[in-house]
Amino acid sequence: MGLDTPVLVINFKTYETATAKKAEELAKICEKAAKQNNKSIVVVVQNTDLYRVSKKVGIPVFAQHVDDAKLGKSTGKTTSLAVKEDGARGVLINHSEDRTPLKTIRVLIDKCRAEGLLSLVCARTSGEAKKIAYLKPDFLAIEPPELIGGDVSVSTAKPEVISKSVKLVNKVNSEVNVLCGAGVKTSEDVSKALELGAKGVLLASGVTKAVNPEETINDLLKGLN
Ligand code: G3P
Repeated sequence: MGLDTPVLVINFKTYETATAKKAEELAKICEKAAKQNNKSIVVVVQNTDLYRVSKKVGIPVFAQHVDDAKLGKSTGKTTSLAVKEDGARGVLINHSEDRTPLKTIRVLIDKCRAEGLLSLVCARTSGEAKKIAYLKPDFLAIEPPELIGGDVSVSTAKPEVISKSVKLVNKVNSEVNVLCGAGVKTSEDVSKALELGAKGVLLASGVTKAVNPEETINDLLKGLN
C-alpha cells in the first residue's frame, strides 16, 4: 500500500491548466516522465477529476480533500469511501489553503487508513509538524505558507525548517515520511530538499504554470537521483 520514495508529489490545485480534460493530459505527462526516468510521481487532483484521471493513468492519484462526514445524511460532503471508489490512492489533508483542525486531522487519517488510503498531511511550521507526527500520517509535508506559489524554494529560503522538521518528526515516529514544498521549481531545489532529509517534494506552480511541463518534470526528476 506504500509509495516508492523519493517522490515528486504534484498538486494540481485549481489551476486551469490542470483541471478536467487538462488534468488528464497533465497526469499523462507525469506518468510518461515517471516511467521514462523510473521515478515515483503522485498527482493530487481536484476531487471532481479523480475518476477521470485515475482511469487514464497508472501512477498514484490523490484527492485534494475529504470531509469528516458520515455516510448518509451529509449533503455536499466528500467521504473517504467516495474518493477511494473514484480511484484515489491517498488524500491530501490540511493543506495551507484548506486548513483542518488537529482533532479532525486525526479522524481523517484514521478514516483514510480504514479505507486503505494513504494520508499526506501538510504542516506550516516544524512545531505543527511535530504535533501531526503523533497522529501517524503516512506522509507529512512541511510548507512555509509565505513561500507557496513564489519563486524561491523552501530548500533555499528556509533549509533549517526542513532539517528541523525531519529531526522532530523522526524523533516522534520514524515511519512518517517527511516531504517539503513551496516554491520548488528546479532539480536543484529538489536535490537540496533530499540532502536536508526530505523523502520528496510537494509542488504545484512549478509544473502547472510551466511553459513546457514535460521538460520541467523531467528536470525536476533529476533532483531525485
Ligand atoms: O501543495 C503544494 C504547494 O502548496 C506548493 O505550491 O506553487 O509553491 O509549488 P507551489
